[in-house]
Amino acid sequence: MQPAARAELVALDRRHVWHPYTSADVWEQTEPLVITRADGARLFDADGTSYLDGNASWWTASLGHGHPRVLRALAAQASTLAHCALAGITHEPAARLAAELSAVAPSGLNRVFYTDNGSTAIECAVKMAIQAHAQRGEPQRTRFVALDGAFHGDTVGAASLGGVEVFRRPFAGVLFDCVRAPSPAEGGHARAFEAIEALVRDDPGSVAAVVVEPIVQGAAGMQIYAPDYLKALAALTRDVGALLVVDEVFTGFGRTGPMWATEHAGVSPDLMCVGKALAYPIPMGAVLATDAVFDAFRGPKDRALMYGHTFCGNPLGAAIAREVLAVYRDEAVLAGVAAKAPAIAQAVASLGAEPHVTGTRSLGMIGAVDLRPDAGGASGYLGARGWRVFEHARRRGVYLRPLGDTVYVCPPLTIGAGDLDTLLEVMCDGVRAVA
Ligand SMILES: Cc1ncc(COP(=O)(O)O)c(C=O)c1O
Repeated sequence: MQPAARAELVALDRRHVWHPYTSADVWEQTEPLVITRADGARLFDADGTSYLDGNASWWTASLGHGHPRVLRALAAQASTLAHCALAGITHEPAARLAAELSAVAPSGLNRVFYTDNGSTAIECAVKMAIQAHAQRGEPQRTRFVALDGAFHGDTVGAASLGGVEVFRRPFAGVLFDCVRAPSPAEGGHARAFEAIEALVRDDPGSVAAVVVEPIVQGAAGMQIYAPDYLKALAALTRDVGALLVVDEVFTGFGRTGPMWATEHAGVSPDLMCVGKALAYPIPMGAVLATDAVFDAFRGPKDRALMYGHTFCGNPLGAAIAREVLAVYRDEAVLAGVAAKAPAIAQAVASLGAEPHVTGTRSLGMIGAVDLRPDAGGASGYLGARGWRVFEHARRRGVYLRPLGDTVYVCPPLTIGAGDLDTLLEVMCDGVRAVA
């Protein structure tokens, strides 16, 4: 693209586009990337520069960009049935995908409700839990328990469960009340479990569900906790008759090693939310439910789940998701994760002794490094130091968007070994450079 055409796009964007989580004033001072195409683990700017996609485009492109089988599935589905409603109708992609997802999910999750994305999967799970309890004769079960540092999306219901203060603060007046338990990633998981158990047992008959990101709290800064916590939580929810909802929107599809992070703990939840990599590049989510939850909606018409989205079960997304599952099988994607994870673990651990590094951790295809906030400056998600690593990486052809002062890699699972080495080297150099 000619420089003038590129500049025109930037001008149009600055005039009209409202960007997510972005201060307009900061944006107007930023020279943006203008991405024209993406291939594998790389994004290509209109000026000809390529960038390694260090976060798999907000944690979605687990098979990389433009996987040929995914593109073929998209084209084939688009040429026959691009969309029809799922109300009173079924179609092959929706029916077969539901069966195939159930087959690979933790045991017992035999029912699939389709949504538009991760946030709406969470919204749906919240409503399923409330209506299911009410229809089983426990209408008083309306309270949700969620963790400090949790992130479950940005719709009002999902944000009510969220525990990252900076995302909650502007909307605090309208979010629904939620019982907030300490994160098991901080201060020891055994202590955190004692705390959540006390909160749940305080009034166990009022709890509709406990909602957690299994093993990794992504938006909190890739905080990792022990599987024993999740195992104990599953036993606790079962004991008090509450539902366990696991949010695998980020952690699913092999990000942490196994297909589902829940597998680290060997538990089966009542509801499981998926999204992101499920049907990349089509936005799609789903809630997988047990037959026991599903059966609470049997009976006359007014017992149906009163929930649905216009595009739910979209055939393009469903056809892609089927192909995604097939590629995971045929190309041994999870074995690739096991082979590559040690390089990530080693790279982040090598930064542990840097004076301005306050923590490092890794799991599967996730590696994170916490930087000490600038003296007197903002910290956490609003911290500035991680953005200096971002600028350093950008100059070296790597897109490394931080979570404030937490710098992390979360690349396509299929990234080649050479590209992974480059990504890690640039991250390590960047972290050292901002000392
Ligand atoms: C764990 C988790 N749940 C839910 C969501 C929301 O997904 P979406 O942005 O597709 O609505 C996210 C998004 O990052 C997430 O990380």
